[in-house]
Amino acid sequence: MLLALETSCDETSAAVLRDGVILANVVASQVRLHAEYGGVVPELATREHLRNLLPVVHEALDQAGASIGDLTAVAATRGPGLPAALMAGFTSAQALAFARGLPLYGVHHHEAHLYSPWIGGQPPAAQFDQFEPNVSLIVSGGHTMLVHVRGELDHTVIGSTLDDAAGECFDKVSKLLGLPYPGGPLLDRLAAEGNPAAFEFPRPLLAEPNFDFSFSGLKTSVRYFLEKHPDLADDPQALRDLCASVQAAIVEVLVAKTVRAARQLGVKCVTASGGVSCNSGLRRELELRCAKRGLRLRVAEKRLCTDNAAMIGVLAERQIRAGKAPTPFDEETRPGWSLER
Ligand code: KG4
Ligand code: ZN
Repeated sequence: MLLALETSCDETSAAVLRDGVILANVVASQVRLHAEYGGVVPELATREHLRNLLPVVHEALDQAGASIGDLTAVAATRGPGLPAALMAGFTSAQALAFARGLPLYGVHHHEAHLYSPWIGGQPPAAQFDQFEPNVSLIVSGGHTMLVHVRGELDHTVIGSTLDDAAGECFDKVSKLLGLPYPGGPLLDRLAAEGNPAAFEFPRPLLAEPNFDFSFSGLKTSVRYFLEKHPDLADDPQALRDLCASVQAAIVEVLVAKTVRAARQLGVKCVTASGGVSCNSGLRRELELRCAKRGLRLRVAEKRLCTDNAAMIGVLAERQIRAGKAPTPFDEETRPGWSLER
């Protein structure tokens, strides 16, 4: 039985797994705590992780009907992420593994996102029997990247954002519109009743023959647009139209580049994960375009799109099965860990 911890940003999460089955996946989100500051405050996040870690671990063990003595391995996110936040979870995992004489596995956060679309069913379990080579879109507040996943544990980053992440763009545009943090989910809800063709916003790097993204210019063009139309956000329908138009621009770039990558690389499957993959416009457009191109689509279940320890555990179990050596106890976290290393 494996205990996995995730504390790279603003969710404190613990999961208990046995042979690919997720017996528990408890997530304590700090979103409300950071809302009044309009973004994640690293110092507060770390303190909150330290406060939440033990209760979250106890809750996960309770839900799994297990005790510490049942564990055979411990895994934790080693990077990338907020340095002190990572340390809170990884050092706790090290201490537990050391004290119980268990092997410890330090897991790459983005690599774990790659496998979250392969978790499904009831009880939720890793469905690697269905695995096939894919192009994976990881989109969240901290990262936006396209990855060619050739096989299990075998992948190459083919593109990433040159500036802001897609979630950051959703959140910054929402802030310009006076919406509370994190604005992505709210902008999504407003966009659902708006006209995506009402206003024209740039589709950055859409025509470029690469798989990189850039979202800071889009945010700036919304700022200029609002300077020209200062009262627009006061009109509820105009606000909904604006949200729909911005969302359409972000979604179009994400989906077009993902589908293009799949076709160029000759893979038949597209996957998506990360907080922004909860976005209804993105999910709908991915479905439409993948169906049109004969691509199979697997988007992570909504509760597994955002950061969670289940995906960390699923990857750790896979690595253990593949014979990966445990992470030595004197190794540290890797806040800037690239997916290529
Ligand atoms: O994966 P996540 O929980 O945390 C990290 O950033 O690692 O992603 C959070 C991001 C935020 O930027 C949030 O606004 C965005 O995901 N998000 C959404 C939606 N739900 C969450 N963006 C657009 N539409 C949504 N429905
Ligand atoms: Zn993440």
